[in-house]
Amino acid sequence: MKATARAHTNIALIKYWGKRNESLILPTNSNLSVTLDGFSTETTVDFQEDLKADTFFLNKQVIEGDALRKVAVFLDKVRALSGKKIYAQVDSLNHVPTAAGFASSASGLAALAAASTKAIGLSLDNTELSRLARQGSGSACRSIYGGFVEWQMGEREDGLDSYAVQVADESHWDIRIAAVVLSKTMKKISSREGMRRTVETSPFYAGWIEQTSKDIQEIKQAIADKDFEKTGSIAEANCLRMHATTLGANPPFTYWQDTTMRVMQTVQDLREQGIPAYFTIDAGPNVKVMYLPEDENKVKSRLQVIEGVEDIIISKPGSGISYL
Ligand code: PMV
Repeated sequence: MKATARAHTNIALIKYWGKRNESLILPTNSNLSVTLDGFSTETTVDFQEDLKADTFFLNKQVIEGDALRKVAVFLDKVRALSGKKIYAQVDSLNHVPTAAGFASSASGLAALAAASTKAIGLSLDNTELSRLARQGSGSACRSIYGGFVEWQMGEREDGLDSYAVQVADESHWDIRIAAVVLSKTMKKISSREGMRRTVETSPFYAGWIEQTSKDIQEIKQAIADKDFEKTGSIAEANCLRMHATTLGANPPFTYWQDTTMRVMQTVQDLREQGIPAYFTIDAGPNVKVMYLPEDENKVKSRLQVIEGVEDIIISKPGSGISYL
């Protein structure tokens, strides 16, 4: 009982930053991302009668500890859904152009959800798959779809109405997203811990929630209109606001490093020189820069000379789940 699926990672333009239910992974606000064609995970799940436990290989290396537990806990949900008590060998390949800390739980859990449910004989539609992937890693529920994707927070306690929907597919709008890879990255606070601490202790959190519900309405209109300056400026402001909540937490923290700020400054300089470029940053120091295809050479040449930048990986809006 074997199946293989591929999923791309995604970058949030309106961030998911906080859970209202930790075990079901239900967010405190609706959020929106672009699926990226430059980063993907390909996962094969093989359920075998004679296995005594799940095994997990990532890029052909055997994985144990927390990462294996995360896979096994997810497969427990799939086993519960199917009613079959059978273990699996999981083989994942992360297609990330450089080894620079870009491995993503979003593409990983989305590919695992798709491959494992197919392998065990469940036929889930994309909504059901998104709901399931969400319970592995929140942002994974958006990677079921290509293009521009909204994770609708829902209201129900049981999470049945909390899943992603496609806002526009990958052919809607030809924009570019450069992932700026930093040469040094410090040990980071996980998104799980970062969100929890912020929700519990940051006095700025209420302001974040209030503004984000406006941002998501506005950005959906801007994406529909293909209004790049509006889309970019809402995304950049939303990112800055998310990161501001961490400075208000107790103890306070930030994901930014010196190079992160140099990249942010360069993007703002590009705009002053008339080139529309905008940044966004997740729970780590790396920066993603959005721009239009005609500005690629100018943007790339400015980013790659920044001190502390190791590589630039360019993506377009990518596709959703596929089965191989
Ligand atoms: O799904 P997680 O637990 O990896 O959390 C993702 C959180 C952010 O990347 C910071 C924002 C987002 O919406 O992807």
